[in-house]
Amino acid sequence: MNQFLQYNPTRLYFGKGQIEQMAMEITTGSKVLVVYGGGSIKRNGVYDEAVGMLKSLDSDIYELSGVEPNPRLTTVQKGVEICKQEGIDFLLAVGGGSVIDCTKAIAAGAQYDGDAWDLITGSAPVEKALPFGTVLTLAATGSEMNAVSVITNWETRDKLGWGSPHVFPTFSILDPSYTFSVPEHQTVYGIVDSMSHALEHYFHRTPNTPMIDGFIESLLRTAVEYGPKLMENQQSYEYRETMMYISTTAFNGTLSNGTDGGDWATHRIEHALSAVYDIPHGGGLAILFPNWLEHVLQEDPSRVKQLAVNVFGIDPEGKGDTQLAEEGAAALREFWNSLGAPSTLKDYDIDDQDFDSIVEKTFIKPGVGTYKELDKESVRDILRRSL
Ligand code: NZQ
Ligand code: ZN
Repeated sequence: MNQFLQYNPTRLYFGKGQIEQMAMEITTGSKVLVVYGGGSIKRNGVYDEAVGMLKSLDSDIYELSGVEPNPRLTTVQKGVEICKQEGIDFLLAVGGGSVIDCTKAIAAGAQYDGDAWDLITGSAPVEKALPFGTVLTLAATGSEMNAVSVITNWETRDKLGWGSPHVFPTFSILDPSYTFSVPEHQTVYGIVDSMSHALEHYFHRTPNTPMIDGFIESLLRTAVEYGPKLMENQQSYEYRETMMYISTTAFNGTLSNGTDGGDWATHRIEHALSAVYDIPHGGGLAILFPNWLEHVLQEDPSRVKQLAVNVFGIDPEGKGDTQLAEEGAAALREFWNSLGAPSTLKDYDIDDQDFDSIVEKTFIKPGVGTYKELDKESVRDILRRSL
């Protein structure tokens, strides 16, 4: 194992009715900017609950609505302006990963004199941020308990991940009943995204990590068992809470304890893909990830083979490593397809005409992949396999 620091300051309130805990977290009489998306929270009643709590705390309430899925820099800039003009003390994100990511960028941008995009590209350091909390409505990204955010600059078609210890949420409310209204396709994308985060952690090269490897395998086996149950019965509180806990744990730092952090190449390619085509993140991952596995196993099938046996329960009897690994990659693709996830770029009417641009955008920051470092031809190979 490598040396590691485990640090996560987000207070997580998990379970039904936990929104009441906001009373302990937000100072009475604060100026609060509520950030949300296209209106799902108004239809499912979460807005009323969150704003009702703020009113009971005598908050001075401001709002920024309309945060896009794949949130855009222009919306971040709007939020920064409100914070600066109104002297906002606290931000409350109510929504999925996009709303939370946008809020993180607003929180940092509000404490910076230049354009928020500087913080996202890393051309200026994040030195401080306004405090913020989250009320999660979609189980997928893990943004509710990490310090990562992904923002799209639609003018340049760049989608960039960035992070800073200053943008951990101070608290997050995770009430699984808030996810009952998540549409079927978004529920599938959430399962795919959470599993992809676990898988990317799994592909590390640090020796002697049996505890964390076993933990990741257990998380993945649970997703394989409960994903289909949830799709069969989307109003089940038990299945929703299981997936919610999986998605938060898959990307809150726990899974990188003692390892080199894993290989996030598929996320890099997906961010480039959805920067060009604005497709859902989980949909892009469902297409790309099995093809990344197939690309990787050509050189080194060992880890994919372990995934095949320990997660998908494929019988190793009489099979070589490569065959087992190929069966593992196929099992992952079939599993996601069985839930209703897309499997090829054609499912989004995407052909190879923008591959040059997607490859270039994948390398917008240097170094793609650690378990297997990818060059541009490798990324092109993964895209070709995805057609
Ligand atoms: O905008 P509203 O009306 O709220 O509707 C949203 C949106 O249309 C809807 N939704 C959310 N909760 C709902 C609901 N509809 C009904 N009932 C509910 N309870 O779902 C749609 C998608 O929401 P979005 O927030 O975009 O989804 P997700 O949570 O998957 O976030 C995706 C974004 O997060 C980034 C992705 O790249 C993408 O931009 N990521 C962020 C990460 C992080 N911060 O750690 C890591 C991830 O790997 C990912 O890259
Ligand atoms: Zn993701």
